[in-house]
Amino acid sequence: MAQPSQPDPQLLEQIERLAPQLAAAQNIAISTGAGVSAESGVPTFRDAQTGLWAKYDPVMLASIDGFRRDPATVWKWYDERRQTIRAVEPNAGHYALAQWEQAWRDAGRTFQLITQNIDDLHGRAGSSDIIELHGNIWWVRPLHGTLLEARRLDDCPLAQHPPLDEQGRVLRPHVVWFNEQLDPLNIEAAFDAASACDVMLVVGTSSVVYPAAALPLYALRHGAAVIEVNPQPTEFSPLASACLRGASGIVLPVLLEQVLEQSLRS
Ligand code: OAD
Repeated sequence: MAQPSQPDPQLLEQIERLAPQLAAAQNIAISTGAGVSAESGVPTFRDAQTGLWAKYDPVMLASIDGFRRDPATVWKWYDERRQTIRAVEPNAGHYALAQWEQAWRDAGRTFQLITQNIDDLHGRAGSSDIIELHGNIWWVRPLHGTLLEARRLDDCPLAQHPPLDEQGRVLRPHVVWFNEQLDPLNIEAAFDAASACDVMLVVGTSSVVYPAAALPLYALRHGAAVIEVNPQPTEFSPLASACLRGASGIVLPVLLEQVLEQSLRS
């Protein structure tokens, strides 16, 4: 069935009610998850039929133990995901967030995008200041190296699994796997943004993976309003200041349009 490209009247009315609050916000933080890329054709993780973790074992494919056991299989899976991601385009939700960032910067206001996604679609849509909490699928680092040795590797498909660097060292994806620490600088920047914002939008995440899932809680505790954009209820929904129940590619462009109209008026 074709997706409607406009919010239904009830959702539209809710967007219109929230727009003035967002238009008045000096400082906005956005926290996104896999759902923001779903309309581009990138599978999410926990959706029952289509989610990656319904089909694949995360312990095998997204853990250091799985990688040590079978680096070739892990890299083949990442190489396939890289090819899927390369073949798709950012959607209207990504573009709305990039445009929003630009508008807020131009007005001397603060707009911080934080994402759990590794697909780089926010960057391709034009967002410039992105905290990528879980890394980036186009980046690699030596298995026995440091975070400082991370660099971009655009080859797609890869010539070999695993790829090696110039010194013959095995490279791993520069992404965060289960039970691994996030980059502390990213965590600090994300929580600073959550504590400073007037409004946070939580978009397309099931809000179950920490520390990202703590960002909206932290924002609430610091007095921000937190609005969820997600077609489905999540663990965070009962605490949200408001829930916009729609796809981000439909909700965000309409929300931005309303917000820009309101802020130009004031
Ligand atoms: P999930 O797959 O857990 O959740 C995706 C969310 O997006 C769900 O709540 C869906 O309802 C929602 N969704 C689906 N389509 C949408 C749309 N068009 N617009 C808006 N929302 C939509 O993905 P994440 O919460 O991002 O971590 O998962 C968090 C982390 O778990 C990932 O970063 C990954 C995974 O394990 C690592 O790999 C470290």
